[in-house]
Amino acid sequence: MKVNIKTDLITKIPSDVITLGIDAKNQTMDSVGLDKKTVNYIKAVLVLGDLSEKVGSTMIVYGDHFYPKILLVRVGDPKLLTANLFYSAVLSMANKLKPLKFKNLLIPINQFINTSLSAHAVAEYSVRGLMDVIYDVNSLKTINKVKQNIFQTIIHYDGTDLVQVKKGVQHGMAMMEGANLTKDLGNLPPNICTPTYLANTASKLGKEYKFKINIFDQKQIEKLKMGSFLAVAKGSREPPRFITIEHNKGPKNQKPIVLVGKGITFDAGGISIKPSADMDEMKYDMGGAATVLGVMKSVGILNLPLNIIGIIPSCENLPDGLALKPGDIVTSMSGQTIEVLNTDAEGRLILCDALTYAEKYKPDAVIDIATLTGACVVALGHHATALFSNYDPLSTELELAGIKALDKAWKMPLWDEYQPQLNSNFADMANIGGRAAGSITAACFLSRFTKKYNWAHMDIAGTAWKSGKDKGSTGRPVPLLTQFLIQRAGK
Ligand code: BES
Ligand code: MN
Ligand code: ZN
Repeated sequence: MKVNIKTDLITKIPSDVITLGIDAKNQTMDSVGLDKKTVNYIKAVLVLGDLSEKVGSTMIVYGDHFYPKILLVRVGDPKLLTANLFYSAVLSMANKLKPLKFKNLLIPINQFINTSLSAHAVAEYSVRGLMDVIYDVNSLKTINKVKQNIFQTIIHYDGTDLVQVKKGVQHGMAMMEGANLTKDLGNLPPNICTPTYLANTASKLGKEYKFKINIFDQKQIEKLKMGSFLAVAKGSREPPRFITIEHNKGPKNQKPIVLVGKGITFDAGGISIKPSADMDEMKYDMGGAATVLGVMKSVGILNLPLNIIGIIPSCENLPDGLALKPGDIVTSMSGQTIEVLNTDAEGRLILCDALTYAEKYKPDAVIDIATLTGACVVALGHHATALFSNYDPLSTELELAGIKALDKAWKMPLWDEYQPQLNSNFADMANIGGRAAGSITAACFLSRFTKKYNWAHMDIAGTAWKSGKDKGSTGRPVPLLTQFLIQRAGK
């Protein structure tokens, strides 16, 4: 999708589709500056009563040669329009537009701006909502392939905050281009999206955005003594990869922000094998890795003046004659020993070594992102990412970025009381903590490897993808993390 910002008189901009908000009194907003004829026409249409009173309801009306299609959207009282209401209105508009034929779409944004919804926000959410809905995965279909709807969006703005509108568009597009890469990677089948595929994706990003890329193979991972990561990888014939991506555009002496993503490209559970139902969805178990790649893409597009490192440990978790067994004890890169009581708790086993590796960057903060526990879905469902941290200012910053980006995270406890659930009779710790508080004990496990820096853990098991008829990756939490980094960059 291409986006242009125009400040001309609205009556000078013809377009295939114009988007018009309708208030509770069945009227268009004066702030749009529409001509009388169009205003009266819409009034006459609305009298027919087909546009529901529910905020976010939409309706297409056919107009004249200047605006062949008019997309009406109910905004209710424009003063009461909130970020959430507006974003869901954009989503319903985008869904209405998706099957239509048009080359350009005009969104006059003044009509949606109020004291709590800035010009920046309206521009950003408009672009994001459209790009989110218009995204299509069907690259492997050979029949009934949906043709990508390629169109130009014109954001019309009349006011003094043009710089903010430009930023809104720029940020929104960067977030969604990153998120769409994350979706693409997640949606690919696990026989294509392997650790090697993720490494190749990192290399491509490296070329495009001048990142420094390192890809370690099995031998190099052995040299690093990542005994815990390797223990998971050895149950698969697909070779593991340990990927680092470095974006060093900040001041030389500025400590980096490190993002670590779980890259299990398929999780069958290993010897502690999972039930068959819905096991295909475990192709999404690389959602953390895909998030890191997506965020790095957004960072590259925005060229943020920060030092940011992405780290991805990637392998498959399969049952095999050589696979890790329940009862095995492995030695992590940190030197701590782990009794593996359940091979399906593999995410923490690969992450712990990546978190130890992260120490070498002397980071300002480390944030790991992982589809870590089914228990997280039980706790929070599909609306919020679970957030854990050993440093409150960091989790607060992430929570606020999530609210702003409409990509919420909810803080969970990481209290010492939970730690004894990981006690083992034979090693420094067990890799599982029993049924109670499964996502918290998983975070407690990771916390034993993150003592040397400020750290946050994001469990995205409930938010990374959708199941059922609309099965597909959501691209979350790329918007949250990109927003966090934009704020860090002071942009
Ligand atoms: N990748 C899964 C977590 C998961 C399961 C995410 C279902 C989303 C939906 C993870 O590797 C796993 O299997 N975790 C186990 C841990 C348990 C054995 C302690 C789980 O949640 O069941
Ligand atoms: Mn698992
Ligand atoms: Zn997993």
